[in-house]
Amino acid sequence: MKKIFAVILSISLIMGLAACAGKVEVPSKKDVQKEVEKEYDMDFDLDSKDIAEDGSEAEWVFISEDGTLEVTVSWSADDPDEFDFDDKKLDVTGPEPTETGPLPTDVVQYDGPMVGVSMPTKDLQRWNQDGDYIETELENLGYAVDLQYAANDTYTQVSQIENMVNSGCDVIIVAAIESSSVSEALDLAEQAGVTVIAYDRLIYESDAVDYYVTFDNYTLGLMQGEYIAAALDLESGAGPFNIEITTGDASDNNAMLFYQGAMDVLNPYIENGQLAVLSGQTAFEDVATTSWKTESAQSRAENIISAYYSNGEQIDAWLCSNDSTALGVENALEAYYQGSYPVITGQDCDIANIKNMLDGKQAMSMFKDTRNLAYQAVVMADEILSGQVVEVNDTVTYDNGELVVPTYLVEPVVVDINNYYEILIDSGYYTEYDLGL
Ligand code: BGC
Repeated sequence: MKKIFAVILSISLIMGLAACAGKVEVPSKKDVQKEVEKEYDMDFDLDSKDIAEDGSEAEWVFISEDGTLEVTVSWSADDPDEFDFDDKKLDVTGPEPTETGPLPTDVVQYDGPMVGVSMPTKDLQRWNQDGDYIETELENLGYAVDLQYAANDTYTQVSQIENMVNSGCDVIIVAAIESSSVSEALDLAEQAGVTVIAYDRLIYESDAVDYYVTFDNYTLGLMQGEYIAAALDLESGAGPFNIEITTGDASDNNAMLFYQGAMDVLNPYIENGQLAVLSGQTAFEDVATTSWKTESAQSRAENIISAYYSNGEQIDAWLCSNDSTALGVENALEAYYQGSYPVITGQDCDIANIKNMLDGKQAMSMFKDTRNLAYQAVVMADEILSGQVVEVNDTVTYDNGELVVPTYLVEPVVVDINNYYEILIDSGYYTEYDLGL
């Protein structure tokens, strides 16, 4: 059956906006899928996608989740307000019974290359961006993608990875919740011949990790420490100053690397008395924050402020390993601290933190352009799936206890009030509107 639909409202809005800006953009797979699902009142999965290089034509093939219907959607930039939907019923009588019994009749097995993407949580802005970029870029290359978020629950993540293996993923990209909690699921992947890319966080105690793509996390910590040292002019002997420290989840290997990098810069100044930590909390276990939660960082900061800084003592710097923990410290300072704002570090350039930076409440955030990291993971997946040599730039550092994992390192960048516009807005990462400007 062939039907031509006038454009549907949501898409027509997108097209309208794009047209106002002088160019017609190919609608996203998600938008098209939404409209197909609305039209046929069924759930669909993308089977294939074909977009002309100049973006003038596109075609998506969707298959209903119950395997009964295939819908082809065609679009042309000449007539961006119209979609051509072509549907055909599928034969679901199922394959011949095998010796081990018949296969389920209602499952259409996708047999093209498929990539599983396992992300830790939707709670933090960064992982949503990572997941979206990876999915879009892989789909643009024609791969099917199974993107899952595990609500920071290790059991959920393990079962999602197992499902990805069972549903035929050829490559799985994993940002692990805990460094060594997914190793059993990875054994299954290894047995099934699936290539595993650890994403951003190294996976420990598993020989099934084939590659790692990450920012240089130790250097990132080092840069945070150096930022504080420069802001307080420690090299010229200034001080004494008070500093407190907040890092991330102790089971995330990155948290230790950020901490080590920063402390390698700050420790000499703590030892020579230029920096004092009035709480006395400097050991990694004492300054860690479960699940990197803003609320946990906040309540620890509140305790520290009321116990050590409530009689006019000044806090000159607060090393925070990332933005979610920095936000907790900033909330606590806002509510309980009377002195002038300390130099606070962060990481991820989350919108709430950049807004705080503009308000003078956070000094810096390490920018990890998720587009670059996602891009590298996609390049790796593509190299693996097309049989090319996989490019890495570090083959010595990332020993996961079983092997030294070949790694592609991406450089992080310091963002503060002086360069945020150029790095975050001029680069298209955020708009002025995103940052409330
Ligand atoms: C990532 C950080 C992130 C943190 C909390 C770390 O492993 O490297 O970018 O802020 O996890 O999700």
